[in-house]
Amino acid sequence: MSDRGLIVGGLVLFLGLVTLPVWYNVAAGRTAKPPELTLPTQAKSCVAPVEYMRASHMDLLMTWRDDVVRQGERTFVGLDGKTYAKSLTGTCMACHVNRAEFCDRCHDYAAVTPTCWECHLESRQVQRTAR
Ligand code: HEC
Ligand code: HEC
Ligand code: HEC
Repeated sequence: MSDRGLIVGGLVLFLGLVTLPVWYNVAAGRTAKPPELTLPTQAKSCVAPVEYMRASHMDLLMTWRDDVVRQGERTFVGLDGKTYAKSLTGTCMACHVNRAEFCDRCHDYAAVTPTCWECHLESRQVQRTAR
């Protein structure tokens, strides 16, 4: 019986240590919240189911690029039967108009830096005024 205090004390110490990262963030006023994304208002769905897009949009973009550049194949038919141009600027960014509060916000959170914007414009609007 005399061990009970020791065991309980040990458990409390153990739990405290295991959850230390949580307390650390609480004390620092931070929470492990996912980034807040500004979604398009003019459309309700993406070119593919949202779970697929969340996990695999980069694969879709690379496939589109290869189809266009190597096959000259520029048309994508979504699961909903709608057709889209296989285009980063012309399609993705036409709906996701706020790159900073969508693509960038998520990429900053995940610490990835796609270099696409060195060549591709984030908006057709920019292209028009630049000319
Ligand atoms: C027709 C407008 C439209 C086009 C074109 C479009 N999207 Fe979307 N996208 C949306 C909408 C609306 C949502 C939110 C859907 C939902 O929440 O069910 C979304 C969701 C997403 C998500 C998931 C966001 C999250 O909540 O985690 C990613 C990533 C994404 N889109 C990337 C892309 C990329 C990359 C392209 C081009 C290949 C693209 N989208 C083209 C409208 C579009
Ligand atoms: C829901 C979060 C989220 C959103 C929103 C999002 N991305 Fe991503 N993106 C990621 C993550 C995470 C990775 C890294 C995946 C990996 O490395 O496996 C990534 C990787 C990429 C890559 C590959 C980069 C590389 O160097 O390999 C491209 C291209 C890309 N995203 C484009 C876009 C574009 C364009 C948009 C906006 C239309 C967008 N993403 C929106 C989370 C997101
Ligand atoms: C060095 C410049 C350069 C970089 C960096 C680059 N691209 Fe491209 N991309 C091109 C050129 C040039 C084409 C051919 C344009 C055409 O034929 O319409 C192209 C075509 C594409 C296309 C099909 C056409 C279109 O309108 O979008 C997609 C999709 C694409 N690239 C995606 C990407 C993605 C995603 C990234 C970043 C991971 C990327 N590219 C980085 C130069 C670049």
